[in-house]
Amino acid sequence: MIGRRRVLVGCAACVAVGCAGQAGESAAAPAPSCDDGASVEGWVPLPLADYPALTKVGGWAEVDLPEHLLVVVVAQPEPGCFVAIWRVCTHGACEVDWDPASATAVCPCHGSVFAADGSVLVGPATEPVRAFPVVRRGDVLWLQR
Ligand code: FES
Repeated sequence: MIGRRRVLVGCAACVAVGCAGQAGESAAAPAPSCDDGASVEGWVPLPLADYPALTKVGGWAEVDLPEHLLVVVVAQPEPGCFVAIWRVCTHGACEVDWDPASATAVCPCHGSVFAADGSVLVGPATEPVRAFPVVRRGDVLWLQR
């Protein structure tokens, strides 16, 4: 099977879109191939057709892909800027929600707030949630696992 073992290759037609200062790793991360829909080692495709809220600035979506062991919140807080953070709060087992107004993730259980890079802004959580690089290629977001 070629899809999952494919060598990561950049493409002039592909433009990496990241968030300066937030998903800084995404700008330096290896780019998935341009073959949208094909999974590439370490990258998980998220077709925007499956997450239409992510096509809008301020939009966010829960991405629950057990086959990739992923439960994340993905958001577009600024035009062309995508962020992804682990959805499970580090204080307990509650799932955080994205707050578009503040561009933060908020835990409904005890009020912890996490920045787009996963860092703790407000406790009681003391540990950050993991953040994942996300880049856009055409109509597909690619999340680096
Ligand atoms: S479980 Fe999230 S703040 Fe307590």
